[in-house]
Amino acid sequence: MAQEVRAVIAPGKGAPVRVDTVVVPDPGPGEAVVRVQACGVCHTDLHYREGAINDDFPFLLGHEAAGVVEAVGPDVTEVAPGDFVILNWRAVCGRCRACLRGRPWYCFDTHNATQKMTLKDGTELSPALGIGAFAEKTLVAAGQCTKVDPSVSASVAGLLGCGVMAGIGAAINTGGVGRGDSVAVIGCGGVGDAAVVGSRLAGAARIIAVDIDDRKLATASAMGATHTVNSRDRDPVEAIRELTGGHGADVVIEAVGRPETYKQAFYARDLAGTVVLVGVPSPEMTLELPLLDVFGRGGSLKSSWYGDCLPSRDFPMLIDLHLQGRLDLGAFVTETIALDEVEAAFARMSEGDVLRSVVVM
Ligand code: APR
Ligand code: ZN
Ligand code: ZN
Repeated sequence: MAQEVRAVIAPGKGAPVRVDTVVVPDPGPGEAVVRVQACGVCHTDLHYREGAINDDFPFLLGHEAAGVVEAVGPDVTEVAPGDFVILNWRAVCGRCRACLRGRPWYCFDTHNATQKMTLKDGTELSPALGIGAFAEKTLVAAGQCTKVDPSVSASVAGLLGCGVMAGIGAAINTGGVGRGDSVAVIGCGGVGDAAVVGSRLAGAARIIAVDIDDRKLATASAMGATHTVNSRDRDPVEAIRELTGGHGADVVIEAVGRPETYKQAFYARDLAGTVVLVGVPSPEMTLELPLLDVFGRGGSLKSSWYGDCLPSRDFPMLIDLHLQGRLDLGAFVTETIALDEVEAAFARMSEGDVLRSVVVM
């Protein structure tokens, strides 16, 4: 039986979000209905609300979520009712060239639920990042659910579904940070802070946090940065070199998404070092570099998609570290809020003093 639940809808370009009643269909083949317990508020939700991603309004927002599987459709083997799960953006196929070569994050045959959740008048909703979890219940592809230890609180577990995984994964998966490495992280919002945490987990000896806001640098220190640089006060490339014996960092992680910080990342790495680009630039941005520098500096320039994560491998591992007290996911949660406070949380996010507001159902 289809059921009605409360959910947060972005009705049109730039318009405030509102809580409305939505209809959740019974799960079809390959689908699952999840009773959402917590969902973080991310910049990407705000970008959907602003129409910056696409025009498929109305959107059903929310995509950093954890909850309990309530029902599954025919032929679902991945999860069963009662499982505690973290949701991810898309189910991968397991059969394409990218999947077979062990790079499922590049899978080109990903899928979400086939059916749509709707408003009461039948209007179809577009779920943000294929999830739509600012809702009491949501419909996803069963392959978007990863079962994890149910003793973790949902408000921290959900964070692994997006920004925190992107940052930790940029360090441990894409950057391959190793014991004794020096790492520089440019831009210390939620993603950059998670890259700091990932670098510490991987055994980095020096973790240099760079930002233009001293409040962000203080948080990065609390998360494990060993040195901080405010790039309003001094040239970050020079500062990173100075802090690494004159040669630059082994791994530089860019978590802003702007040409000037891409360029800083490029020049702040050691010869043969690795630059990891996590910050997402806007379509019109370009970067000009002397080819001799590109050639002559060796090493590699990598972009990191969703932390190059494999949810079935990385989510349970990170939850395990959290439960052992070796990774404090709780440090990313600034406040917990109710479903009808998402619009207010967007405003606070823009002021820059919230790492994550998490909606708790
Ligand atoms: N130099 C250094 N830091 C900067 C600069 C700059 N020129 N400009 C902005 N910053 C800092 C901000 O002060 C902030 O702390 O970058 C940080 C960006 O953080 P958030 O806005 O909180 O964004 P976050 O959620 O961390 O995402 C960062 O990663 O996944 C992508 O799309 C995401 O592009 C975004 C980036
Ligand atoms: Zn695939
Ligand atoms: Zn997100």
